[in-house]
Amino acid sequence: MNSQRKKFKIGVFDSGFGGLIILRDIIGSLPEYEYVYLGDSARIPYGTRSQETVFNFTKQAVEFLFKKNCFLIVLACNTASTKALRKIQQEYLPKFYPDRRVLGVIIPAVEAAVSCAKERIGVIATQGSVDSGAFIKEIEKINPKMKIFQQACPLFVPFVEEGEHNSPAADLIMEKYLAPLKKKKIEALILGCTHYGIMEKKIKRYLAGVKMINEGKIVAAKLNDYLKRHPEIEKQLIRNSKINFYTTDLTEKFGKLGSAFFGRKIKPQKVSLE
Ligand code: DGL
Repeated sequence: MNSQRKKFKIGVFDSGFGGLIILRDIIGSLPEYEYVYLGDSARIPYGTRSQETVFNFTKQAVEFLFKKNCFLIVLACNTASTKALRKIQQEYLPKFYPDRRVLGVIIPAVEAAVSCAKERIGVIATQGSVDSGAFIKEIEKINPKMKIFQQACPLFVPFVEEGEHNSPAADLIMEKYLAPLKKKKIEALILGCTHYGIMEKKIKRYLAGVKMINEGKIVAAKLNDYLKRHPEIEKQLIRNSKINFYTTDLTEKFGKLGSAFFGRKIKPQKVSLE
């Protein structure tokens, strides 16, 4: 009876394999559950796409994960969180999956930043996330007086996807993007994109003294807290520590770099969302 009731998994979605860094931290903190990871590698990047497209892609991903029996989905992708989450929560879920939950990564990151900065916060993210204004809106909800400085870093994702984020070329690009933020004397910097966490050390070196808000651990702690506050959901989750990885484009790179990001070997399976 008891085992019959425990039938759901936790889903983690990203536009590519960057979200594996977030899944790694989630599993580090909550290893007991069963997880399904989906990376939409065939259609990355999301960061340059329209709101309508990001919503449609995200909706397909969420649907796939629900069909895999996920009760709760974390949109590890910041662009999906900034451009699709609201509509998913307000329109899609009530109509199609009223009992299930989809959570994003923006609010946890913003709360962490606001708690350690008095006046000045920097945000780096994809162009889409910057243009959405979602980080600004959420920060201002907590502290309307906070000064916020945003910078889109569109070249970081391809550098990371190519495994070139430690190259001298990546250093030059980083300086170009971060020099304006350095002048703004920010106290905290939100690494508002799945792929930036892996660059934390070098960004921290360049912006010495600035507190880095790296989403992995923050999102993991928030999920832990969420499950404690929602025992009715937690008690339905399967506890077998299994993880299945899916991608929409099975390339050697996904397996290789994905394993490096996740910290252990992964064997992704290819799926189609269309
Ligand atoms: N996953 C995206 C994000 O966190 C970055 C990659 C993309 O542009 O799709 O915003």
